[in-house]
Amino acid sequence: MRDLTDDVLHSFAATPDPRTRELVTRLVTHLHAYAREVGLTLDEWRGAIDFLTRTGHLSGPARQEFILLSDVLGMSMLVDELAHRDAAATASTVLGPFYVGEHRALANGADLAAGFAGEPLFVEVTVRDAAGAPIAGATADVWHADRDGLYDSQKGDAPSLRGRFTTDADGRIWFRTIVPCSYPIPTDGPVGELLAATARHPMRPAHIHFFVRAPGKAPLVTHLFVAGDPHLASDAVFGVKPSLVVPIEAGSRLTYTFVLG
Ligand code: BEZ
Ligand code: FE
Repeated sequence: MRDLTDDVLHSFAATPDPRTRELVTRLVTHLHAYAREVGLTLDEWRGAIDFLTRTGHLSGPARQEFILLSDVLGMSMLVDELAHRDAAATASTVLGPFYVGEHRALANGADLAAGFAGEPLFVEVTVRDAAGAPIAGATADVWHADRDGLYDSQKGDAPSLRGRFTTDADGRIWFRTIVPCSYPIPTDGPVGELLAATARHPMRPAHIHFFVRAPGKAPLVTHLFVAGDPHLASDAVFGVKPSLVVPIEAGSRLTYTFVLG
């Protein structure tokens, strides 16, 4: 009897690039197995096409619903885990959709939250290499949400609660800001429908994003999560790693050392 899956796999047999052949044929194998396993109906198939079509229509430079879908399915964190196996380096996590490219340069000591209401916070971070030596001249793009859980880019505002700092001779950056709060990922699109249909909440625990770069070192995309947040154990995008959960110390200080691999 004709095996449809075999026929499809054979149709890709002449793919010249071996990696492309592997990616496509293993995808077909798993997709066909999935459809057979669940007994996928025509209505369900059409529903899935409609869901993906609407996800694509909502995706562009200003908003990326496909990345959000990857995030809530745990794919973003899985691929991140496969890419970062250097145990000496600080753990990485998702970039998220609110990174807007190069940030405005700010001097150490600047107030990221000038004009924003919120609980004051002083952040001091040291950047080191795997041998423990401080890295001078590393850049750290920093961004976080306001007290209402919104990023400047979501509101169409000028840059606020975001900036680029450069480490001093001791590998340090420091700045003032406000304590971030937990917030929901966007739920007004297909990803929101998926969360609602599966009784999942959309919340991310409070965090500050960091994108740290230094010449000759692997870039680090990570967050620092505020210890005690009620959503740490159920982040909607699975981004929490225990080593990234940091307490706010006496004097409203948050301190941390990033290690670049
Ligand atoms: C964020 O932390 O900014 C984020 C990450 C993934 C999905 C949505 C938001
Ligand atoms: Fe965030």
